[in-house]
Amino acid sequence: MNTKLIYSGIADVQSECLVAIVLDHNTDTSKDAKPDPKVVSNDKALADAVADVLASGDVTGKSLDTTLLHGPKGLKAKRLLLVGGGKEKKFSADDVRKIAGTAARFVKGKNLKSLAIAVPDAASVSGANAVRAIVEGAFVGDFDPNYYQSDRKDQRIDDLAIVAAANAEKKALESALELGRVIGESQNFTRDLVNEPGNKMTPTILGQRAKKMSDEVGLKCDVFSTEKLHELKMGSFWSVSQGSAEPPALIVMTYEPKATKNGSPVIGLVGKGVTFDTGGISIKPADGMEKMKYDMAGGAAMIGAMRAIALLKPNVKVIGIVCAAENMPSGTAQKPGDVQFAMNGKAIEIINTDAEGRLVLADGLCYARQLGCTHLIDAATLTGACVVALGYVNAGIFANNEDMYSRFSKAQQEAGEKFWRLPLDDEYREMIKSGIADIVNSGGRWGGAVTAAKFLQEFVDDKPWIHLDIAGVAWMEESKPWIAKGPSGIAVRSLVEFVKGW
Ligand code: BES
Ligand code: MN
Ligand code: ZN
Repeated sequence: MNTKLIYSGIADVQSECLVAIVLDHNTDTSKDAKPDPKVVSNDKALADAVADVLASGDVTGKSLDTTLLHGPKGLKAKRLLLVGGGKEKKFSADDVRKIAGTAARFVKGKNLKSLAIAVPDAASVSGANAVRAIVEGAFVGDFDPNYYQSDRKDQRIDDLAIVAAANAEKKALESALELGRVIGESQNFTRDLVNEPGNKMTPTILGQRAKKMSDEVGLKCDVFSTEKLHELKMGSFWSVSQGSAEPPALIVMTYEPKATKNGSPVIGLVGKGVTFDTGGISIKPADGMEKMKYDMAGGAAMIGAMRAIALLKPNVKVIGIVCAAENMPSGTAQKPGDVQFAMNGKAIEIINTDAEGRLVLADGLCYARQLGCTHLIDAATLTGACVVALGYVNAGIFANNEDMYSRFSKAQQEAGEKFWRLPLDDEYREMIKSGIADIVNSGGRWGGAVTAAKFLQEFVDDKPWIHLDIAGVAWMEESKPWIAKGPSGIAVRSLVEFVKGW
């Protein structure tokens, strides 16, 4: 999708489809309050063009409602699409992002190849933030997961024009557009990796994709396999891959800014890259198992985030580590009761081979520290228990450090992603004690998301650390107006924002 800013009055915009936002200005929140819809623009021609339809009562400004007008009066655009943004009082950049996604998906549904979106003139969202949100949202809306349908039409949008006032601050808007494009494309890069089925996204292929991307954006990238795992004594990570014919991949991407002082922080992004999770010998039920192709979404989020980081060049060193393996039952697979040793020497009693994500991450976190990371973030589709706790709305976040948490919390808000904090109390540590080894790899049913996090904490030492459990939100169970069913690309935007704000 080509993106460009144009500075002109709305009347002169020539487009297949021009998009404008309508907000409800009525502050009365009671149920039978009459909506007071207004288009969010200072443009006189636009206000005139929508006057009749707004007066008719057909358009209310309700969030993500769409109304299409053909041959709008006084405008050069062929169509005018009005998208609701909800209550004027609550209007935010996040609404703009969803509106742009909704508009993109609407336009694609009509087989149109281009659209123009007017920057809203709203007090609550700056012009630059609106431009960024429009671009991010449009890219997110432009993704379709039906890769292997023989009649798949390439319905990608060719051109997105963003219409700003002639007196707008051009420099700020241009850089906001660039930022939105990098982030939107990187989120889609992640979604592309997650969308691929297990037979087309093995650990080796994931490594190749990371390497190719790294070469394109100028990141250092090494992809290791079995031998290196043995050399580093990653017995925990290796144990997950030992039952598969597919070798594991340890993907290490390094971004280093030009000038770094000694003693500067190094952020480690560690992702779970289980390219298919059958459960291993503790095999999963057949029902829904096909979805376990997305068990590498945490790793894919780190790869997408590293892409954006390489292009945006923040002033902090970042190392991305993805531990990729396939979890299979076989004659060489690990068995319940086996004891494995992680890189830091801790002995792990495997009581459930389906609790494999924490096993690959344990060694990934140790390795990140060995490479000099001072701050750690991991992301993983780690537990069904997190989905039980938070559903499909919020991902889980755990933190052992308040400064890290507040930085991430700010970043997630900016990014428009939802994470809800869960606890790490010492008492939960009791639940992962082992009779034969240091710890067991499963704390059982109750508090399963927390005991998984406690397990990971054994491998971060005292480093400031955040753990993101994205099991419930990495895959959209159904389409929304602004995003297709399928891989969501969750965490990419927050991670990039977090690093950018350092
Ligand atoms: N990959 C799963 C977690 C998962 C569940 C991701 C649902 C996405 C949707 C993970 O490896 C797993 O199997 N976890 C087990 C842990 C248990 C055996 C302690 C679980 O959650 O049941
Ligand atoms: Mn599992
Ligand atoms: Zn898993």
